[in-house]
Amino acid sequence: MAELIDGKVVAESVVEKVKQLTAELTSRHGVTPGLAVVIVGEDPASQVYVSSKGKKAKECGFNSFQHTLDASTSEETLLKLIGDLNADSSVHGILVQLPLPDHIDAGKIIQAIAPEKDVDGFHFINVGKLGTGELDTAFVPCTPAGSMLLIERVRGKDLSGLNAVVVGRSNIVGKPMANLLLAANCTVTIAHSRTKDLPGLCRTADILVAAVGRPEMIKCDWVKPGATVIDVGINRIPAPEKGEGKSRLVGDVDFAGAEKAAGAITPVPGGVGPMTIALLMANTLVSASRAAG
Ligand code: GUN
Repeated sequence: MAELIDGKVVAESVVEKVKQLTAELTSRHGVTPGLAVVIVGEDPASQVYVSSKGKKAKECGFNSFQHTLDASTSEETLLKLIGDLNADSSVHGILVQLPLPDHIDAGKIIQAIAPEKDVDGFHFINVGKLGTGELDTAFVPCTPAGSMLLIERVRGKDLSGLNAVVVGRSNIVGKPMANLLLAANCTVTIAHSRTKDLPGLCRTADILVAAVGRPEMIKCDWVKPGATVIDVGINRIPAPEKGEGKSRLVGDVDFAGAEKAAGAITPVPGGVGPMTIALLMANTLVSASRAAG
């Protein structure tokens, strides 16, 4: 049976370090990290994520600024808010929760965030820095950065020459994940909906990262024996066995099957999820430290 990679424990150790460094930054430089989180509309999942980000920020000793805007908010109003947050020296990190309502051009909003406050790492400047290996000054997207920490926990820091397969090519997870693995000298393949023989390709992976948003798609016999499996998926599926109208969370990996083949595997929930928030705190602290000089 695979080793279970406990994201809650690793995330807690990241958060403890952030708390300690924040206390030092505040006492030595008089700077308190500030994180502004913007949510537009009432998507229930987004509301849960945003409220946990705010809570965790306070727990770390940050100032947390939450901007809750009506679903009918215009692009112009949102751009004005971003401009104000860019100019506000008490704000070191700006996160606009995605998805945004259809009438707002998400790309335009993301590119309006000052790159030095883009703690999500979605601005072209940060994407470009990651792509060219400028990791010291880039903000790296939180979910892939957190996934890398989990991989390093089980495989150590030297991932040189390992075969990594990333299933999913999103800008938020798949592509930055592939870039991080490449920067760590893995041989990286990005698989997607048009990939031929996906099971066969997955079986070549020493490190398999699933980020497709399809419940339990990756099966036991897709996993190379001993592989490290990182499940980024969070899918809510009906669970009639728990009672009428009940649901449960599952990943993109068929956990019960894959844990028989994998060397180590992340659970859902409690794997990658907690890491995303922890890395958001770490990015915000880095931004505040840079601002303090
Ligand atoms: N929606 C889902 N994941 C994310 C994320 O990492 N950042 C933002 N801003 N929105 C998201």
